[in-house]
Amino acid sequence: KQEEHQETHQKLSELVSTLPKAKGWATQHVHYHQGFWFNQSPLQGIITLQKSFEARPTDVFLVTLPKSGTTWFKALLFTIMNRNRYDFHDHPLLTANPHECVPFLEMYAMENPNQRPDLSLLSTHMPYTILPKSILASGSRIVYVYRDPKDTFVSLWHFMSKLRPKELPPLVLEDAVEQFCSGKSSYGPFWDHVLGYWKASIEWPDRVMFVKFADMKNDPILHAKRLAEFISYPFSSEEENEGVIHKVIELCSFENLSNLEVNKSGSYKASSASKIESKTFFRQGKTGDWKNILTTEMAEQIDGIIEQKLKDLV
Ligand code: A3P
Repeated sequence: KQEEHQETHQKLSELVSTLPKAKGWATQHVHYHQGFWFNQSPLQGIITLQKSFEARPTDVFLVTLPKSGTTWFKALLFTIMNRNRYDFHDHPLLTANPHECVPFLEMYAMENPNQRPDLSLLSTHMPYTILPKSILASGSRIVYVYRDPKDTFVSLWHFMSKLRPKELPPLVLEDAVEQFCSGKSSYGPFWDHVLGYWKASIEWPDRVMFVKFADMKNDPILHAKRLAEFISYPFSSEEENEGVIHKVIELCSFENLSNLEVNKSGSYKASSASKIESKTFFRQGKTGDWKNILTTEMAEQIDGIIEQKLKDLV
C-alpha cells in the first residue's frame, strides 16, 4: 500500500511539473490548473479529490481564501455543529487549535489519496469551478467567507513573512502587491475565487452561503444565527434564552482563542512535512489593518482591481 501511495504521489508530482508555473511568494512555484494558481502539495491533493472525492449530503464545506478567516470560521462551525456533544467548560477548542478539529481537505487528500475524513465538517480553499463534482451533486452545504482583499493581502504578507526561511531575503511588500494583483498567488486570482462563490450563492442560496468576515465581526450574534440556520443546526428559542449563541461567539473570539495556551505555545501539523506554530494563525483579527501597512499607491492598485472585477459585490 505504501508503494502504491508513493507511486501515485510520484505520478501526480510529475503531472504538476508539466503545468505552466510562475514564481510564488516563498521558495516554491505556483502552478496553473483550470484557471487558478496553486502550490504543489495542495494541487496534488486537489487533482486527487477531483478524481475520486465522494461528498455526503450531510457534509458542510467551509471555503475560504488563505487568510480570510479560516481559523475563526472553523471554530464557529465546529462549535455550532457539536454544541450538544461538548460542554463549553470542557471543550476540544480549549486544548486543540481549530485546524486540528477541522481537516483541510486538499492536504488530507495529498496524504491519504484513497480515503476521505469520516467527519461532516471539512475545509478547503478550492475555487468553486474546480470543486469535485460530488460536492455539487450531493446536496451538501458550502459556507464561503469573504474578507476585504486588502486585509486578506496584508494578513497573507505577514503570514508568509513569518514562515519564510531565515536564509532568504525578506519579502518585499511592493513585489507581493504586484504578484497578488497579477492573480498569480496561491489560489488566485482572488477575484475569480470570490466571484465563483458569490455567483453560486445567488444561484443556489440554500446550498452556498456567502458570509463576510467584517459582518461577522460587526454583528456576530446575527451572523452566527444565520450560519447555524443555513447548515441546518438552528438555535432553538430555549438556546437563545440561555445565551448559547453568546457562549459560542465568546469561545471562538479572537481574544479567547489567541490567549489559550494551546494557541500561544502549541503547533499545528499542516502535513507530515510541515509544522506551523499555532500563534501564526492569530495576529490581530481586526478589519482595516491594511491602512497601517499599505501605501496609498499600493491600496489604489488593489482597489483598482476590486472596482473592476468585484464592482457588484463590495
Ligand atoms: P490578521 O492577520 O489580519 O490578524 P486564516 O485563519 O484564514 O489563516 O486567517 C487568519 C486571519 O484571521 C488573521 O488575520 C487572524 O488574526 C484572524 N483570526 C484568527 N482567529 C480569529 C478569530 N477568532 N476572530 C477573528 N479573527 C481571527
